[in-house]
Amino acid sequence: METMINKQVVLRDYVTGFANESDLVITSTTVDLRVPKGSMTALVKNLYLSCDPYMRNRMRKPDPLSPATAQSFTPGKPISGFGVSKVIDSGHSDYEEGDLLWGAVGWEEYSVITPIPNLHFKIHHTDFPLSYYTGLLGMPGMTAYVGFYEICSPKKGDTVFVSAASGAVGQLVGQFAKMMGCYVVGSAGSKEKVDLLKNKFGFDDAFNYKEEHNLIAALKRCFPEGIDIYFENVGGKMLDAVILNMRPHGRIAACGMISQYNLKNPEGIYGLSLITYKRIRIEGFNCFDYFDKYSEFLEFVVPYIREGKITYVEDVADGIESAPAALVGLFHGKNVGKQLVVVSPS
Ligand SMILES: NC(=O)c1ccc[n+]([C@@H]2O[C@H](COP(=O)([O-])OP(=O)(O)OC[C@H]3O[C@@H](n4cnc5c(N)ncnc54)[C@H](OP(=O)(O)O)[C@@H]3O)[C@@H](O)[C@H]2O)c1
Repeated sequence: METMINKQVVLRDYVTGFANESDLVITSTTVDLRVPKGSMTALVKNLYLSCDPYMRNRMRKPDPLSPATAQSFTPGKPISGFGVSKVIDSGHSDYEEGDLLWGAVGWEEYSVITPIPNLHFKIHHTDFPLSYYTGLLGMPGMTAYVGFYEICSPKKGDTVFVSAASGAVGQLVGQFAKMMGCYVVGSAGSKEKVDLLKNKFGFDDAFNYKEEHNLIAALKRCFPEGIDIYFENVGGKMLDAVILNMRPHGRIAACGMISQYNLKNPEGIYGLSLITYKRIRIEGFNCFDYFDKYSEFLEFVVPYIREGKITYVEDVADGIESAPAALVGLFHGKNVGKQLVVVSPS
């Protein structure tokens, strides 16, 4: 049986505080390139790996009080996440050699997977860059789609604020909101990202939150009449400043709170009583709960991409050795657009 070297990204130990590149180590093992017939498994070659902020929570020690740690990684073992892969050998009747798919895989060159509906998706539109299935056409795309259309209850003319707006999810939310005829403002952490928001993604306005001394005033400047919809990606001080600027009956889609993921003690939110006075609806959601809508999402988004009405920016790291730096870089805003890793281009 043919075997190959299989490089893997292994978690050294549980992480507290900011994750460092050295918390993840590259090790090598070997893998058989064949799986037993009827095993319902497939041996896949991983082409692209997706760097996603939730993975930081999986580096924490499991804590019964924190559902975010329910699926913590195991120290000494390869971490896992979303990726784009090619089937090398299959013991599963629905998969055959050469099939392309995106879904849950190990952070390694080759993975043996047990394909699960709504966690592994066959790729049929192969005329797009396959890397899009880590972002625009994958989990972050689904997140933007359900988060905006299902959770925000948007309508034409709404004022919409998006934080971490140039990232994998935020850049799409802004474009969806513009397509609906909303007034859209984004925040991001550098001039380069602010320029992207205004000049590439079509946001009406944008600001660099790192250069604003007073976030409340910055939002008041951008939204003199208040915010109808906040697509929440960061939490912390930004959330507090937004609540003060929300309009009555505003909606907050709590997609994520990346500013809190590396903190030992999460920051408090002080303006919560305004939720009642302003009749604000704040709703958390998890894209996994909506994966049965994936084909509906493709039917919606594919024509817009083909017509050039939706665009997408990726930040591509080269080689599995670059994966640790790419992943921890998310928490320092190093990525410009969707961060992914090319393990093998084909
Ligand atoms: N609910 C779900 O199902 C779901 C699914 C996917 C993602 N999410 C969440 O959606 C959010 C965005 O994810 P993404 O994949 O699109 O990531 P991303 O925006 O592509 O990358 C993360 C970005 O967050 C910003 N950031 C990092 N630390 C920050 C801090 N302390 N304060 C403010 N901003 C900070 C950085 O941009 P700047 O340079 O602008 O600071 C960084 O580039 C995350 O909270 C993630 O957990 C939720």
